[in-house]
Amino acid sequence: MRTLAVLSRKGGTGKTTVALHLAVQAELSGRKTLVADLDPQRSTCEWSRERSRFARTPLVTEAKVGTLFTQRLSSARDGYDLMVIDTRPSTDLECAEAVRWADLCLIVVRPCYFDLKAITRTVELVSNMNKRGMFLINQAPSRRNGEEPRIIADTFEALLDMGLPVAPVGLRYRAAYQNSVREGRVAQELDASSLASLEVRSLWNHVSGAIWPEAVVPAADSSPLALVS
Ligand SMILES: Nc1ncnc2c1ncn2[C@@H]1O[C@H](COP(=O)(O)OP(=O)(O)O)[C@@H](O)[C@H]1O
Ligand SMILES: [Mg+2]
Repeated sequence: MRTLAVLSRKGGTGKTTVALHLAVQAELSGRKTLVADLDPQRSTCEWSRERSRFARTPLVTEAKVGTLFTQRLSSARDGYDLMVIDTRPSTDLECAEAVRWADLCLIVVRPCYFDLKAITRTVELVSNMNKRGMFLINQAPSRRNGEEPRIIADTFEALLDMGLPVAPVGLRYRAAYQNSVREGRVAQELDASSLASLEVRSLWNHVSGAIWPEAVVPAADSSPLALVS
């Protein structure tokens, strides 16, 4: 079993949204997936309760720092392929525990100054623990008159300077991410041909390639958010 930790020290960056969208996409790709909800606010568990009216996957479990290890072991025994850890804007100790068990740490950041300032400690933690890290730009503003807003290129550059790769697919700010989650779904389930679906599938292709580097990586879809510097 492999583990994906979704991190950032700030609230509201989109950790839960990203964790749920990727977890459902992992299931759709045939990976038996569970989400460990490390956030005492239990947003992920609430989403799962809403979802239980029409779907039973992915499994969502309440998790605590002290029980993560045993939970991981028992999930592996139960045949799970992937554990996604949804974290809270956490202290270093909690964050370190999620990082400890992760095969990949996805650091979610909005393209804004304060988010960039806040991630330095997370990057240090991931690097000091010799873990694989990757930035994800979330809630990116749309193109204006066909042009990518300047803040995207600036953010991309600032992130690369921090020494970790940036996912070449980011997620735009889209209502579908909010509306779907409210009813226990994800954007791909509202409209499989939407731009939100396309970007989540592209992101999953990239993330799963990093989690299972030994597997053949499928060709990337053309990205609706071109974040190439
Ligand atoms: N890509 C996105 N587009 C639009 N809204 C988003 C996006 N990502 C997250 N949100 C919204 O931002 C808010 C915070 O997201 P959430 O996933 O709860 O963040 P966190 O778990 O980091 O605190 C929620 O209202 C969520 O619906
Ligand atoms: Mg959250």
